[in-house]
Amino acid sequence: MSEIVRPVEELTQAEAAAELARLALTIAENDRLYHLEDAPKISDAEYDAMRLRNAAIETRFPELVRSDSPSLKVGAAPSAAFTQVVHSVPMLSLDNVFTDEDVVDFIASVRRFLAWPADREIIFTAEPKIDGLSMSLRYENRRLVTAATRGDGTTGENVTANIRTIKEIPQHLPKDAPDVVEVRGEVYMRRDDFFALNQRMAETGQVFANPRNSAAGSLRQKDPEVTRSRPLKFFAYAWGETSEPLGETQYDVVQRFGDWGFQINKLMDRCHSVEDILAHYRAIEAQRSELPYDIDGVVYKVDRLDLQARLGFRSRSPRWATAHKFAAEKATTVLTGIDIQVGRTGALTPVARLHPVTVGGVVVTNATLHNEDYIRGIGNNGQPIRDGRDIRVGDTVIVQRAGDVIPQIIDVVLEKRPADAVRYVFPDRCPACGSHAVREEGEAVRRCTGGLICPAQAVERLRHFVSRNALDIEGLGEKQIEFFFNAEDPALRVRAPADIFTLKARQEKSLTKLENIEGFGAVSVRKLFAAIDDRRQVEFSRFLFGLGIRHIGETNAKRLARHFLSFSALRAAAESAVIPQGKGDPGNAAWQEINGINGIGDVVAEGVVEFFAEDHNREAVDALLQEVTPLDEQPVGEVSSPVAGKTVVFTGSLEKMSRDEAKAMAEKLGAKVAGSVSKKTDLVVAGPGAGSKLKQATDLGIEVIDEDAWFVRVGKV
Ligand code: IVH
Repeated sequence: MSEIVRPVEELTQAEAAAELARLALTIAENDRLYHLEDAPKISDAEYDAMRLRNAAIETRFPELVRSDSPSLKVGAAPSAAFTQVVHSVPMLSLDNVFTDEDVVDFIASVRRFLAWPADREIIFTAEPKIDGLSMSLRYENRRLVTAATRGDGTTGENVTANIRTIKEIPQHLPKDAPDVVEVRGEVYMRRDDFFALNQRMAETGQVFANPRNSAAGSLRQKDPEVTRSRPLKFFAYAWGETSEPLGETQYDVVQRFGDWGFQINKLMDRCHSVEDILAHYRAIEAQRSELPYDIDGVVYKVDRLDLQARLGFRSRSPRWATAHKFAAEKATTVLTGIDIQVGRTGALTPVARLHPVTVGGVVVTNATLHNEDYIRGIGNNGQPIRDGRDIRVGDTVIVQRAGDVIPQIIDVVLEKRPADAVRYVFPDRCPACGSHAVREEGEAVRRCTGGLICPAQAVERLRHFVSRNALDIEGLGEKQIEFFFNAEDPALRVRAPADIFTLKARQEKSLTKLENIEGFGAVSVRKLFAAIDDRRQVEFSRFLFGLGIRHIGETNAKRLARHFLSFSALRAAAESAVIPQGKGDPGNAAWQEINGINGIGDVVAEGVVEFFAEDHNREAVDALLQEVTPLDEQPVGEVSSPVAGKTVVFTGSLEKMSRDEAKAMAEKLGAKVAGSVSKKTDLVVAGPGAGSKLKQATDLGIEVIDEDAWFVRVGKV
């Protein structure tokens, strides 16, 4: 640091904020040089001095701790420090609900799915949602063998050595435990332990923003002895693979974990009705601040495990559980500006720039303002919101942050409005390309009409293409994408996804070398090209998600991939599909096939068909397919099941299961479920009252069975 270092006590708040911003940048840059390029430019002592200075300023001004603060970054290059563990049963997340009505809906959806009689109760457990990090502990022959973090749900980090240092986690299980059992739960740190730790750490230059980060940072240490010195704790509340059933109800299994020596949460209880559940929620909420650890909601789970099994899972979360989050935390601050961001579909989104403020332990400097109506005080239904109060630059505003959701501005304090504040005028031109930005009838968003000429959209599409859940190309961040996009030299330019994969070959032929350009070193260039080459074969669903087709998020991409199994089959269907024109038009068979996939409706199907109808999209995909191979999806479900690969139609009324449940069961067994009977149908399951579909099936000579025979066929009797 060449500048004169002033004592921390003398800094004003503004000076401190500016210095923290500089330190965050400089330390991050040095981390990059050290870890990614193995080429540090400063001595360890200088580096340590910067971290210490950062910590000292943060200790004096805790409200200025930045979300990108070096003190929040955990260890060195953390993921490389641990080996990977593939979870034998995926670690899923939970759906969130926020209001009492949402809870009522959740319970109704469970009952509907199970076609549960109105006069029979379903018991739910209710327990605190612990704010820590989830952990899977695998015991074989009653000995702890592996401990893994959740990671992306499929693959986590092997932290066994570190977990062994936590006293609360048994190394051995008693005789009655099965041969294989994965006990899952939350590693957390008590609030008082967190404060004490931070005080100790302030001198060493590493402080944590909250107990959760502190628990994560303490666990992900290269040296288990460091973890040992940290007061980590564990609550058991779930399980993964087991060699034998653990019990009949959620409650009983968790009590059993307690008998085995795990800590279980005392506030877990069984509830018999919606009223009971909501009363429990309020009781836990009322104790929240007195609990020694952080919680951010209450989790409800269907108690009976046979019902959990029938309910099964959606793509990312179980149907039998949900998290009821506590109301968001709020804070007041000043809106210093409104910027417009252009997304990959051209949507113009207003972003609030805020005077930094801490909301529930996290420093917030940006918040979403949703759309132009929202700023004007008009809701999605055209009705006034905030009693019609508009939001102006200079206003004092109320910011709300709930969990991981992007913070939002929920209100303005009119009494504090400066006299010169003016109404915000939403631009009618795209700030990135100058094209008209128009709002379609009935739409809330204004979109740039620049399409292919709009650099912001193109850059966003590329960023999406390489992002973690799409092609996941490491080393291609926002800055790099912008650099390649704007490169004058054709040997460096990347305008479309395929260009990423031709970059290396173009480089080899050219005189301009990437490694000579500032910001890229020989090592990072080598790593980048390796990361790109690594993705020349990629899962079909990631490839599809990466294309950025409207309405095709990760879940829909997976649905389509699982149905069509190969990209070429999906494309052929999309290119031959005819979108229905008006009511009564059923579209053609290809349309019905796409539209008939569980979870895919008209809007999504249209997005897919329209995408492949555009010449330039087809060209971009063709160019990409020269470079990248989307791998065929393996049929899911119990592939050896007697209905795997078969197309099944359910018709008439079903008595032992709901239509949704029938569909979910068939799909889990690897069957395709169709809505109408055609030559492609293999099996029709007909209940009482079946009409035209049954007749069609008989006419076509398709096998027809009843519900009981279905259960026999799939071996569920
Ligand atoms: S049950 C199949 N119970 O919340 C789902 N999760 O948002 C199993 N969490 O990843 C999770 N307290 O880390 C469950 N009492 C609790 C929990 C809990 C905290 C975390 C867990 C999970 C996340 C999902």
